[in-house]
Amino acid sequence: HVLNIDPNAASKGTYEFYMLKEIDEQPGVMRHLSQDYLDDAGHPVVDKNIVDAMSKADRLYIFAAGTSYHAGLVGKDLFETLTGIPTEVGYASEAGYHFPMMSKNPFFIFLSQSGETADSRVVLKEANKRGIPSLTMTNVEGSTLSREASYTMLLKAGPEIAVASTKAYTAQVALQAILAKAIGENLANPNAKNFALKEELALAAEGIQQIVDGKEKIKKLADEYLIHSRNAFYIGRGIDHAVALEGALKLKEVSYIQTEGFAAAELKHGTISLIEEGTPVIALISDPITADLTRGNIQEVASRGASVITIAAKKLAKYGDTLVLPNIDYLLSPLLTVVPTQLLAYYASKDKGLDVDKPRNLAKSVTVE
Ligand code: G6P
Repeated sequence: HVLNIDPNAASKGTYEFYMLKEIDEQPGVMRHLSQDYLDDAGHPVVDKNIVDAMSKADRLYIFAAGTSYHAGLVGKDLFETLTGIPTEVGYASEAGYHFPMMSKNPFFIFLSQSGETADSRVVLKEANKRGIPSLTMTNVEGSTLSREASYTMLLKAGPEIAVASTKAYTAQVALQAILAKAIGENLANPNAKNFALKEELALAAEGIQQIVDGKEKIKKLADEYLIHSRNAFYIGRGIDHAVALEGALKLKEVSYIQTEGFAAAELKHGTISLIEEGTPVIALISDPITADLTRGNIQEVASRGASVITIAAKKLAKYGDTLVLPNIDYLLSPLLTVVPTQLLAYYASKDKGLDVDKPRNLAKSVTVE
């Protein structure tokens, strides 16, 4: 196994902060993953032992923390749609001491950029004790979680230095899609067979590039709506809800603006009382099934004074949407939707004069429980 370390990979170059550099690197990460894990015909190239072991599972369990947990929420949709295997996602910190009820043939997936998160290690130790097979998806070759799990897949996102995770998230989403397609094809699942992943990852790379090329507009939105706000909301349904949670985490961790990610329709069951004149609400619209319903939820907050920013996929966009994103398969929509949320967080932090790469109280990898 040859490890290619690009000497420039961990340098900031002309960037003021790593976070923006790492956001900008995402189109390249998508291309690398496609080249390394898909053959010319678009079929996944994944260790047969992993595919065989996972194909035997009657349930997949994803464990992770922070941003990786949010990538796992997207993974649930990918694995269930493309493999037909029921999939659960849990916080590693919770599962360690309150182990979930197991199916007959469980398989565990650990998502961890660093491969060192102590909360995840507790779960893995218990899994090993019980003889449950496991896979670690990590960005760091030879990391502890990868050594202790049965199998490893590498994210190949290059070193991620900023504390706030960006390119590792998109790499985790893309690599879970590749793995899910591999298992699904092995199980002759028609959804997996028909999923044009190579083309979709090419669309993701182009789409992300288009979004980062338009970053000036996103900076203006951060300056106008976010930096003077004490709180904010992200809302969405379906896969957009998973991205809303990640968008909210990103914004609060680097800008210190208290932000909640919410299932769009749940707001009205209590939390909508927090909406005041000018409260920023960022709505994500990529899910074709619920797009119109989310529009209704937007009306509810707008009529109570919220300043609404809409981020919509082109095929679902309406006149007046703030940002319109290129089209991509719904299952991979987080690869695009998350990027404006990363940029909003970046500019909100930078334009408040904060240390974007090293927010207070946070560490890049947390090796205590
Ligand atoms: C820390 C970082 C987060 C990260 C989480 C999980 O809390 O500050 O950005 O998402 O750990 O890290 P991992 O390396 O396991 O993905």
